Amino acid sequence: MVDPSSFVDVRGVSKIFETGGRNTEPIAVINNVSMTLAEGEFVVYLGPSGCGKTTLMRIVGGLETATSGEVLLGGERVTGPDRRKGMVFQTYTSFPWLTVSENIQFGTKYRTDISPKQKQEIADHYLDLVGLNKFADFHVNRISGGMRQRVAIARTLAAEPDILLMDEPFGALDAQTREHLQVQMREISRIENKTVIFVTHDVEEAIFLADRIVIFSARPATIVEEIEVTQKLPVHRDMTTKETEDFFHLRNHVRDTMRHLETDDDAVDV
Ligand SMILES: Nc1ncnc2c1ncn2[C@@H]1O[C@H](COP(=O)(O)OP(=O)(O)OP(=O)(O)O)[C@@H](O)[C@H]1O
Ligand SMILES: [Mg+2]
Repeated sequence: MVDPSSFVDVRGVSKIFETGGRNTEPIAVINNVSMTLAEGEFVVYLGPSGCGKTTLMRIVGGLETATSGEVLLGGERVTGPDRRKGMVFQTYTSFPWLTVSENIQFGTKYRTDISPKQKQEIADHYLDLVGLNKFADFHVNRISGGMRQRVAIARTLAAEPDILLMDEPFGALDAQTREHLQVQMREISRIENKTVIFVTHDVEEAIFLADRIVIFSARPATIVEEIEVTQKLPVHRDMTTKETEDFFHLRNHVRDTMRHLETDDDAVDV
């Protein structure tokens, strides 16, 4: 029986890239990072650009191997990518010649554990959850960027992964669409009790979405601070949450920590 409080267990992960070329030094990107995620927990990664957030997420997803340390998901060691790890990226990858509905169904395509009827039901469920019913038969190249990102999220959820890994998924969207998707994403993770790791550069987005924020140092990434957002903000959040005093204090605190990190980063570049 896996302890639900350590559903995801990152154990002493370090990563050094051997760049390979002559005269090039190996790059240490992650330095001995350990953390656990409880089942259903929403964790947001913040840190200076290039510090190793994407790399750590790729290691959790099995797309990259750790130089040392290991990651356990539900008690099992991660050795490669599979359906249990669902990923959503900044740039949307879909099949433009398929409809919204067909794209979401694609998330269930390779599942052998369920019947075609169940696949359809699951796809319909997630189509509904991201609010795209009206656009089910639209081809993806005819809908907006925000809707495409919702399709990507629904398709990834339709595979029913154990963990959702989201790397700046709203980074390319306009501010209004982005806020709308933040509210939806927080709701979806709550309703579906999804375990999520989400990377962003946007401090307000981080606070709004997170149960816990993990702030990393400049490269090689180490954990600088972990902030339990759920101790300050309610579990259920909407746009008014961003106007509360608790949110304001959290934002100042996180910005302050980030500012000090950026100073270190600049010093390294000089
Ligand atoms: N395959 C690779 N080979 C060599 N170096 C790599 C490789 N992948 C990433 N890096 C280097 O590792 C460092 C961390 O990259 P990573 O993409 O994980 O950072 P990040 O925190 O996600 O940055 P950003 O916030 O800009 O997305 C960078 O210096 C990058 O150039
Ligand atoms: Mg990145």
